[in-house]
Amino acid sequence: MTGSKVVAVVGSSAGGVEDLRVGLVEPLLDRGYQVPVTLTPTAAGWLDAIGEVDELEKLTGLPVRSVPRLPGSRAPHPRPDVIAVAPATANLVAKLALGIADNQALTMLCENIAVTPMVVFPRVNAAHARQPSWENHLQLLRTVGVDLVYGDDFWPLREPRTSAPSRPLPWSELLRRLDRLLAA
Ligand SMILES: Cc1cc2nc3c(=O)[nH]c(=O)nc-3n(C[C@H](O)[C@H](O)[C@H](O)COP(=O)(O)O)c2cc1C
Repeated sequence: MTGSKVVAVVGSSAGGVEDLRVGLVEPLLDRGYQVPVTLTPTAAGWLDAIGEVDELEKLTGLPVRSVPRLPGSRAPHPRPDVIAVAPATANLVAKLALGIADNQALTMLCENIAVTPMVVFPRVNAAHARQPSWENHLQLLRTVGVDLVYGDDFWPLREPRTSAPSRPLPWSELLRRLDRLLAA
């Protein structure tokens, strides 16, 4: 056991989110961390449809969150020491940079930004990156210390619908950066 540090995992509705358990959650649990999982509403729908929400809840021993708690009820997740966001849609990245907290995943991320170490993998394509505000969003997030797994070494940008659906996400790079943060 590495201890009882909490690595919160946030997934959004981009390709590869179906591998969140195998790619990220299981390796973090194997390292001895608590791993509360939060999904955007769309990602929760995708993972629920393939039984992955149940699998994640069984494995982590915690509810998978995608909706806000009721006023007066207790937060069902422990406070995070470190946060991993993967895959992050272009939509999630833009909203996080702008402070738009219109679902539970973004509410948690907006509360923790600039306070809790965060590693984010934007799973985007060349069209997302041409959006005129994109580079500003990335720059703003870097300014407050967000560690972006971004660039040709990790995820070369391709035009929409030209990537093989099986193109693997850079889980090992995310784990490497999380290991470094958690060892600090
Ligand atoms: C099959 C499918 C794959 C998608 N893959 C991506 C992706 O890799 N990256 C991305 O930014 N958006 C992707 N999208 C679009 C997002 O799902 C869409 O923008 C959604 O509104 C984002 O919601 P969220 O950020 O709350 O999860 C995909 C949509 C579909 C239907």
